Amino acid sequence: MKIAVLPGDGIGVEIIAQALRVLDVFKSEGMKIETEEALLGGCAVDATGSPYPEATQQIARDADAVLLGAVGGPKWDVLPRPQRPERGLLGIRKDLNLFANLRPAILYAELANASSLKPEVVAGLDIMIVRELTGDIYFGEPRGISVEDGQRVGRNTMIYNEAEIRRIGRVAFKAAQKRSKKLCSVDKMNVLETTQLWRDVIIELAAEYPDVELSHMLVDNAAMQLVRNPKQFDVMVTGNMFGDILSDEASMLTGSIGMLPSASLDANNKGMYEPCHGSAPDIAGKNLANPLATILSAAMMLRYTFNNEQAAGRIEGAVKKVLAAGYRTADIFEAGKQKVSCSEMGDRVVAAM
Ligand code: IPM
Ligand code: MG
Repeated sequence: MKIAVLPGDGIGVEIIAQALRVLDVFKSEGMKIETEEALLGGCAVDATGSPYPEATQQIARDADAVLLGAVGGPKWDVLPRPQRPERGLLGIRKDLNLFANLRPAILYAELANASSLKPEVVAGLDIMIVRELTGDIYFGEPRGISVEDGQRVGRNTMIYNEAEIRRIGRVAFKAAQKRSKKLCSVDKMNVLETTQLWRDVIIELAAEYPDVELSHMLVDNAAMQLVRNPKQFDVMVTGNMFGDILSDEASMLTGSIGMLPSASLDANNKGMYEPCHGSAPDIAGKNLANPLATILSAAMMLRYTFNNEQAAGRIEGAVKKVLAAGYRTADIFEAGKQKVSCSEMGDRVVAAM
């Protein structure tokens, strides 16, 4: 297994270190894991001037999977857009053709009180958001800020072709088949033609998956339903921008974005695995961050790219055990529990494995 490791910026470095310790457990037992580190994001800009430098491109393309911490920070927000860390992230997603972003929102029973919603609304929550990741208004052309008739105009283009919709739709239908066989497709077809096509194509695809119960929801309603009655959802599929927003919303139902992993896959299950959260510059370097989202991302990597369900389950089981034993990083801390640092959380997971 060849893994490109990209710690990135801010807390990325600390949380990746803990995920690597978890992989070391497998390595010490004989699993053939090769890791190579490279720069992405702000650290890459500082070292090379580019957020996704040539050397990183090589390493990422050669690897079977990429394990990523987080990118970005206020220091780089003043740079011209092509040099911002976020461009590095969008660049690697596009370069590796990682069109299918899986973002599970699972509420661990032990964390029911960490959610800002009432425990009975979120208890047992288990949603999978399937977000298209290489198209939509994120990449559509034309784009930019120009001067027209003496005033500035900002422009982005929301665009999908049917092949792009079909391939992400297939990922979502298949994910639904492996779960409760319920799929909700989210669009804004009452206003936007792009998403009318989205809905049309998803409906056509449904014929290939007769065992899946398909529903449709407008994105504004979906945002509301996620906080009103989130347990009505199982798999949700949507475009890049709506998925960006809804997945942050869904993450908070679980109490902490610090718990949520993600996978971004190409057509052959090569993947990039990263926590859903950002680089948290305010707590970077303080050994306070929650490494569990990154550790759980490593579990997703073993499951989706390396087809090793047993190893993935072992990491997830260890995380549950550690939570059940009462260990909490600051973001999920509550009275009566034991507060631990980022590295101590890593210690606990390794011990539980
Ligand atoms: C995410 C992030 C990124 C996105 C940013 C950092 C470019 O918010 O992965 O959800 O918008 O996709
Ligand atoms: Mg986001």
